Amino acid sequence: MSKVIAITGAARGIGLATARALQAKGATVVIGDIDETAVKEAAGSLGVTGLTVDVTSRESFTAFLDAAEESAGRLDVVINNAGIMPIGPVTGETDADARRCIDINVHGVMLGTKLALDRMLPRGAGHVVNIASVAGVMFTPGLALYNASKAAVLAFTEAARLEVQDRGVHVSALLPTFTNTDLVAGTSSPKGQKNCEPEDIAAAVVELIGRPRPQVVVPKKLGRQLRLSALFSDRAKQAVSRRLGLDKIFLEYDPDARKAYDSRIRSG
Ligand SMILES: NC(=O)c1ccc[n+]([C@@H]2O[C@H](COP(=O)([O-])OP(=O)(O)OC[C@H]3O[C@@H](n4cnc5c(N)ncnc54)[C@H](O)[C@@H]3O)[C@@H](O)[C@H]2O)c1
Repeated sequence: MSKVIAITGAARGIGLATARALQAKGATVVIGDIDETAVKEAAGSLGVTGLTVDVTSRESFTAFLDAAEESAGRLDVVINNAGIMPIGPVTGETDADARRCIDINVHGVMLGTKLALDRMLPRGAGHVVNIASVAGVMFTPGLALYNASKAAVLAFTEAARLEVQDRGVHVSALLPTFTNTDLVAGTSSPKGQKNCEPEDIAAAVVELIGRPRPQVVVPKKLGRQLRLSALFSDRAKQAVSRRLGLDKIFLEYDPDARKAYDSRIRSG
């Protein structure tokens, strides 16, 4: 793969694994993250360009894409991956958390898409990949804010895709399920299910870039289940959710195990 690819939120987790997988396929990767120390370290370990970026700022995001093109060449793919997940009861959610989550997860992705399209549409080529979540189509207690943010990402991505689809530019959403990164610290997996690893999501991104599609759920099997469950009644959906323990996972988590993550996502 001889593409030039910029990835946000790639100092760790899914973004870092994706950078590594794309690099292994021959892509030239530039990574960006708000965490300056971590992004420099990650870039050093991969031997790629690593830059500080705050996806909520037009100025910062533009500077990131400019610097990426300066160091690696014309961008073929932009992956909007940066995201945070505050969890807990809806009534306990602070306005500051709500604003920050919407700012990063929604505004950051919309901004990244618009700035990428500004570069790609005049060239008639390119691919924007937005990392959404299964949480954008499957709603659970304790996750109202994150659910809302990821549903917005899916709506925005699909509308943008429909708008530019005849102009040579692809816009896709990738919907991972529970994946073992800091983001799920202190939460348990749905009963009887194993979390994905960041490398599983990375492999799906590599495949999606090779064969652009509107939406991809990871794992694929869950995508089929979600399409089927859309036909279920509310009662049946809730029964499935209870059987998996999804009604409790984001309310009865381990706050101590989540402390470091919580303080990281509130400190940027
Ligand atoms: N881990 C999961 O279970 C899971 C499931 C579905 C979707 N996702 C999504 O995948 C993406 C990556 O999540 P992850 O699990 O790797 O989390 P992570 O916390 O390991 O990594 C996210 C990265 O984004 C960076 N970031 C946060 N705010 C930023 C900002 N304003 N500008 C630039 N970078 C910023 C963080 O510093 C961090 O390095 C997110 O969009 C997340 O919502 C994760």
